[in-house]
Amino acid sequence: MKVDVLLGLQWGDEGKGKIVDVLAPNYDIIARFQGGPNAGHSLEFNNVKHVLHSIPSGIFHAEKINIIGNGVVIDPVIFKNEIEGLRKLGLNVSKNLLISKKAHLILPTHQRLDAASEAAKGVSKIGSTLKGIGPTYMDKTGRNGLRVGDIHVNFNEKYEILSAKHKMMLKKNYDFDYDISDYEQEWFEGIELIKSFMLIDSEKIINEFIKDNKKILAEGAQGTLLDIDFGTYPFVTSSNTVSAGACIGLGIAPSKIGEVYGIFKAYCTRVGSGPFPSELFDDAGLMLQKLGNEFGATTGRPRRCGWLDLPALKYSVLINGVTQLIMTKADILGFFDDFKVVTAYRINGEDYDYMPFDIDTKIEPVTKNFKSWKSDLSKLKSSDEFPKELNEFIKYLETETSVSIKIVSVGPDRSETIKLS
Ligand code: GDP
Ligand code: IMO
Ligand code: MG
Repeated sequence: MKVDVLLGLQWGDEGKGKIVDVLAPNYDIIARFQGGPNAGHSLEFNNVKHVLHSIPSGIFHAEKINIIGNGVVIDPVIFKNEIEGLRKLGLNVSKNLLISKKAHLILPTHQRLDAASEAAKGVSKIGSTLKGIGPTYMDKTGRNGLRVGDIHVNFNEKYEILSAKHKMMLKKNYDFDYDISDYEQEWFEGIELIKSFMLIDSEKIINEFIKDNKKILAEGAQGTLLDIDFGTYPFVTSSNTVSAGACIGLGIAPSKIGEVYGIFKAYCTRVGSGPFPSELFDDAGLMLQKLGNEFGATTGRPRRCGWLDLPALKYSVLINGVTQLIMTKADILGFFDDFKVVTAYRINGEDYDYMPFDIDTKIEPVTKNFKSWKSDLSKLKSSDEFPKELNEFIKYLETETSVSIKIVSVGPDRSETIKLS
């Protein structure tokens, strides 16, 4: 049995949480492979919206095992809040949530270092979610990090050593004012809570599951254009968000990867700074933001909006080896009379259909106009009911990317999902 991977093809917030929740019934195990509480994965059913940050989006299916993989970074305070929220809803998460011993911990001082680094960058700041992601992954690659498995042996001592180092950096490098005393107490409460979960050698267990023919879905966070290697560097996150990241973040061989579901919005959004060639600064952009309710699930920040960017989409399909496409928010384009897709980047009079190294150069987007279906898709139950303009749009994207669109999402709710044959 192979592991299927679901990941974002844009700058995050493509609707991964919703689609993982929809696909979960087809799987035995759902495993997050990278990122941390910078993620905000929304899913909706019975008219209630839920937002998950560190916990896999299969958690609402009681019979499914959910794994936080070694590639994930965990903030114990945010984890505790999430768990408490889920328990209030009556979920018995102790039973079906397993955590890798190799997952790294976000310390309170990592968060402060994130804030100090952003403040020091001034106008060229990344627009980080300030959850401590960058500093935690820096400590991981710098071989200083603390892992979940460290909790049981001399943990306080290890914590003090790393925390003292961070405090010195905050003072010397940044002259940064901070107070973490309240947060630190909550942080240790979170550590106690983590201890009560099954802490596992996830790579071993996942490979045993594969051998036992269990079906595993690997859930990505962020999106391909935020990948540390392949995204719009330096305006990226600090992990590998691409399909290869699933191998590293779960301990599975490349030959064990099956389907790669690439999820994209029918338009584009981005939170934080960085290049965005198809960004709109006009009424159409405001309409996408308002109708699409484009506000960050983690920080509440307004998302920048623009048309679908085909060169970027093709690039993401290539890097990830996408085998099936999933398009979300198709319903939003139904509010427009017509809409556009960016088909190429014009740089110094020449057209490029791929992402240039220096994406920050002056790019003039070349666009193609589409007539909208101008109807409410959210009540449709089957693709047989799709308006002709939507079918034409789907066909166009499939031809351009050479990959079939298998699911079209037409609303935030679980039920507002249409599978294509
Ligand atoms: P994720 O980070 O990829 O899981 O995405 P987010 O949850 O951050 O953002 C996606 C937002 O779009 C959430 O508010 C979802 O409830 C919502 N959403 C997902 N799919 C659709 C869709 O097809 N139509 C509409 N209108 N909203 C959607
Ligand atoms: P999900 O999983 C959208 C963005 C931040 C910032 C940059 C770096 O919900 O799609 P970081 O906190 O990682 O140092 O921030 O990446 N970013 C996201 N944008 N969705 C996310 O996650 C994101 N996680 C990080 O806004 O620009
Ligand atoms: Mg999100």
